[in-house]
Amino acid sequence: MLNTLSPAQWEKARQAIDGSLIPYFETSDFIFIKPSHQIIAYPTGNKGIIGQGRFSIIKIGQNEQGTPFAVKIETIEEPVSVYEAQAKKENEVLTALGLEPYVTIKRRVQQPGAAHLKPTYLTYYYGAMPFLKGNNILYAFTSTPPTESQAIAIALQCCEKIKEMHQRGVTHQDIHAENFMLEENYDNPSVTVIDFGKAEINTDPKKLKRDVEQLWKMFVNVFSLDFLKKSLPISTDPLTLDRLMMVLSEKLQALIPPTEPVLPTIGDVSTRIRTLEEKLKTKRAIEDNARKGNITSRPPKNRRKPK
Ligand SMILES: Nc1ncnc2c1ncn2[C@@H]1O[C@H](COP(=O)(O)OP(=O)(O)OP(=O)(O)O)[C@@H](O)[C@H]1O
Ligand SMILES: [Mg+2]
Repeated sequence: MLNTLSPAQWEKARQAIDGSLIPYFETSDFIFIKPSHQIIAYPTGNKGIIGQGRFSIIKIGQNEQGTPFAVKIETIEEPVSVYEAQAKKENEVLTALGLEPYVTIKRRVQQPGAAHLKPTYLTYYYGAMPFLKGNNILYAFTSTPPTESQAIAIALQCCEKIKEMHQRGVTHQDIHAENFMLEENYDNPSVTVIDFGKAEINTDPKKLKRDVEQLWKMFVNVFSLDFLKKSLPISTDPLTLDRLMMVLSEKLQALIPPTEPVLPTIGDVSTRIRTLEEKLKTKRAIEDNARKGNITSRPPKNRRKPK
């Protein structure tokens, strides 16, 4: 990947970083950072991007031994006090989860602007975590939809991972399919939770419940309806999906503290599935008719009746 870096280049970066207040060193091709105990290098410009968020990009980097890392580069406009408090919280969460603290580096850069104006600054934060093979679940399922049994196994693993977090006293608070990494061997899946930007050391029942609701929403959106539906035979028996939702809802219900029992019912989900099925059937019938030459053109919506 970046093995074009020579020992001399690493040495140069080490000297620059060790002699500087900010553990950051830049050449025309690579940026070196030292977010915790080791230096990580990643390519400059548009190279090496593996993910993107609202305020951040994720690039692939590596340490001197060639171990790959995912480097998160966040750009924050001043004032940064809110973000600093949040970064501190994120590190506490990582420590509670037994993960390497996501130590950030503050690099304040003045933005170009007219000389007479008050200068504005951008602040960059850098963190690195071990690179995870595979893709996030949204991306993975979009490219290769899972079968029903694979979806169940993967969904259950997501539940397990969140349960483990809860047992360590942490709620995630930002559960969606892009925040689960999945090694793409669907028959022997390995799921890892990422992105602890909103996580809290707080297992207040309301927070636990929010995690579960987010998980549920993710299953409904990604696992059962939109994606799984595509992978199942076209004559999908709603019962199959009912079964999936039943297994998942039991599992989810078990995560919710008894004081906060409310979840969407399986009935709600099945109704949604059946409505979709009906729509699909009607659409197909119209298409069939059209193919047979009996075009039944429906008047466009909002067309006024002639007076
Ligand atoms: N450790 C990793 N290994 C491989 N890919 C990763 C890793 N971390 C993140 N990614 C990729 O980058 C994407 C975005 O990562 P992440 O969720 O951490 O950032 P984000 O959504 O921008 O975060 P935030 O919401 O805090 O700004 C992920 O969905 C995933 O595809
Ligand atoms: Mg994310």
